[in-house]
Amino acid sequence: MSQSPSSRRLVVKDLYKTFTTSNGVLPVIDNISFEVSPGEVVTIVGASGSGKTTLLRMIAGLETPDRGSLTLNGHAIIEPGPERAMIFQHFGLMPWLSVLQNVVFGLKTLSISPAEKLERAHEAIGRVGLKGFEDFHPKHLSGGMQQRVGIARALAVRPSVLLCDEPFAAVDAMTRLLMQTDLLGIVTEQHATALLVTHDIEEALYLGDRVLVFSSRPARLIEEIPVRIPKPRKPEIRTSSEFQALRAKVWRLLQEHTK
Ligand SMILES: Nc1ncnc2c1ncn2[C@@H]1O[C@H](COP(=O)(O)OP(=O)(O)OP(=O)(O)O)[C@@H](O)[C@H]1O
Ligand SMILES: [Mg+2]
Repeated sequence: MSQSPSSRRLVVKDLYKTFTTSNGVLPVIDNISFEVSPGEVVTIVGASGSGKTTLLRMIAGLETPDRGSLTLNGHAIIEPGPERAMIFQHFGLMPWLSVLQNVVFGLKTLSISPAEKLERAHEAIGRVGLKGFEDFHPKHLSGGMQQRVGIARALAVRPSVLLCDEPFAAVDAMTRLLMQTDLLGIVTEQHATALLVTHDIEEALYLGDRVLVFSSRPARLIEEIPVRIPKPRKPEIRTSSEFQALRAKVWRLLQEHTK
């Protein structure tokens, strides 16, 4: 029997996180709550060091919250799992492995045959435009290409939740545009949920069904801004007055809440 839509959500509730450092206790996430439905793209903007990566890492199951709860489809998130894949801000590739091996490595916990792993890896590598580079090692690729390997690794998992930490920051403007459109297509096609952190306000509005605006550290959720621009969106939409008004609003909120 299929689950009801409400139980297929990612639910972040009253989340609180500190780090203990040599200078004392550092509050990083301050009481954040939000929900994301399947097929939705939610983007997050906030000052550098506010706690965005920490939040994604907690949803990935790589960090534990001090308080609050994280659930996906009604199940508590307590460890990493193949239904969630993260595209890391700093690529997170293994330098001693080739492009193909890096992507296959991301599939290690899936119970599918080695042949299927290879097939999925090749498909994802093609999708991010790296066909022909399968045997290259990361150090022989540009920053943008390394990031695309990171994206391929996450896509190959075919996760129901994609956690994207500034996935296009190292990619040139033209590739960025193509990959933004591609990511939206994949999310729609796989009916996946995407949570995407970006420093680029236009990117947040262009890709997001909602934009979450975070304060500087400790991150609080200042406002959730719905983007009611129909999809699929065309790049030209960025020049519309509706888009520009939203852009000005996010800009103002960030200015007001960045210490
Ligand atoms: N493992 C850790 N131990 C101690 N402090 C940490 C740890 N990880 C992150 N921090 C601190 O938590 C704060 C938030 O870091 P985080 O990486 O989540 O910020 P961010 O919003 O992703 O920043 P950026 O936009 O620059 O990527 C920073 O002050 C950082 O120094
Ligand atoms: Mg970060």
